[in-house]
Amino acid sequence: MLKVAVLVSGGGTNLQAVIDAVETGNITNAVIDVVISNNKNAYGLERAKKHSIDAVTLSPKDYEQREDFNEALYDELMKRKIDLVVLAGCLVVIPDKIIKAFENRMINIHPSLIPSFCGTGYYGLKVHEKALERGVKVSGATVHFVDEGTDTGPIIRQKAVIVREDDTPEVLQRRIMEEAEWILLPKTIDDIANNRIKVVDGKVQIKE
Ligand code: GRF
Repeated sequence: MLKVAVLVSGGGTNLQAVIDAVETGNITNAVIDVVISNNKNAYGLERAKKHSIDAVTLSPKDYEQREDFNEALYDELMKRKIDLVVLAGCLVVIPDKIIKAFENRMINIHPSLIPSFCGTGYYGLKVHEKALERGVKVSGATVHFVDEGTDTGPIIRQKAVIVREDDTPEVLQRRIMEEAEWILLPKTIDDIANNRIKVVDGKVQIKE
């Protein structure tokens, strides 16, 4: 059984998609051991509690030194013997020590087709504002392993979503969630839990 920690900062609709997939059997061989948020008001924590999943708040603001927060987060993941860390709208910068400890065992969902509209500062509505500004005809979502860079790790899965002429950033954001993110993230966790994914020379191979 793959023990999963999901890290969130906000609404947690991707978390919800993962919870639902575990409950309906669309994800097998995995259990969500804990949901961790840096924001005690994150609705993602409520979603966890409603499904009897441990919900933990760990915020850099509660520590004098950033290093102490980093250690607390590391310890929480180690104490629980987490196998896979899922960043699902997590706005905290993950320290290198954790990235190294979870090499090819930490994934992130990003709301664009990487390498477009990603990197430092590209989160939330900004991603979709920039896509509309550029006039792209398709956008989408990407699930990738996390490495030391921002959105630079090996790409696992991507799904394209049509951009419409009358889209606003909010409308596009929602369509990408519905048509791509909420499908890709559970699917990828199921792939990992069932050993269908390997990384070879920095690239992901999937046994379909
Ligand atoms: C999603 O768009 C995800 O791609 C990005 O942050 C957002 C989180 O939304 N990393 P939610 O909290 O899952 O609703």
